[in-house]
Amino acid sequence: MKIAILSRNTRLYSTKRLVEAARERGHVVRVLDPLRCYVRVAPGASSIRYKGREVRDIDAVIPRIGTTSTFYGTAVLRQLEMMGVYTPNPSDAVLRARDKLRCLQILAAQGIDMPVTVFGDNPDDADDVLALLGDPPHVIKLNEGSQGTGVVLAEKRAASQSVIEAFRGLYANFLVQEFIAEAKGSDLRCFVVGKKVVAAMQRDATPGDFRANLHRGGTAMAATLSVEEKRIAVRAAGALGLGIAGVDLLRSKRGPLLLEVNASPGLEGIEAATGVDVAGAVVELLEAQAREVPAETRPHRKPVRA
Ligand SMILES: Nc1ncnc2c1ncn2[C@@H]1O[C@H](COP(=O)(O)OP(=O)(O)O)[C@@H](O)[C@H]1O
Ligand SMILES: [Mg+2]
Repeated sequence: MKIAILSRNTRLYSTKRLVEAARERGHVVRVLDPLRCYVRVAPGASSIRYKGREVRDIDAVIPRIGTTSTFYGTAVLRQLEMMGVYTPNPSDAVLRARDKLRCLQILAAQGIDMPVTVFGDNPDDADDVLALLGDPPHVIKLNEGSQGTGVVLAEKRAASQSVIEAFRGLYANFLVQEFIAEAKGSDLRCFVVGKKVVAAMQRDATPGDFRANLHRGGTAMAATLSVEEKRIAVRAAGALGLGIAGVDLLRSKRGPLLLEVNASPGLEGIEAATGVDVAGAVVELLEAQAREVPAETRPHRKPVRA
């Protein structure tokens, strides 16, 4: 297969591992910086070019789109999809996951439990919005934050109100959640590939923090998931349309709660903590999916109108 990885940096651990896993399995791989892809859109005559050359005959693409290039990165990915290139994570699914609120709305509709979440726009409604949530502590999050930045714990109502005011002043979208104290600064990262959790780790926040993100100094160890936790992780990824996802859960008194679903989950922490060849599992998913749609019938062999 000819595989493209949309990634801004070939030196990133995740990118390097995906390249390595694909080559080990005999595939041709190319890393394309999405911001260096440029596109011509025309009926029946669309094309993508990269550093002066046309991008063509790609069988599958693995998007690794960072939060700073969501719009442009998903536009490039969409173009590849329209040319008939298979992707486990289509652009629409990446966009659904990138928007925390949208993601929670979709998953709540599937009956997946989560920390109670509220949002509101007008300062005049702030008291009533917080009343929907109940007593503090509250967790206030930037809607498109990642790696734990923009996630704030407010112990008192007055603190919630001032954080909300500050976010509003920056015209940032945010949501407010009940604080799940019994998680004690730990969460579960479930790495879903296809319809399976291929690896899972428990992350523990550094003392004094409540955010378990490894980028915030959290530590990780392999975790054994319950049947229910696995089922929730796979359902959440599926509901968003993601073939590859990092699903974060909190263990709470009322059972597993869904926190968020990441469409470009990092491989370094999870491979180190679990010893699982996650990159290999991703490439094997591409092989299985590409087999389902034989190359000669894929639309990019002839120009498509889309
Ligand atoms: N409602 C909550 N209650 C308790 N801890 C939370 C809550 N929301 C987030 N956390 C902690 O903060 C971390 C970061 O939150 P998350 O929503 O995953 O944002 P990010 O996209 O920045 O990773 C989580 O991994 C978890 O440890
Ligand atoms: Mg997270």
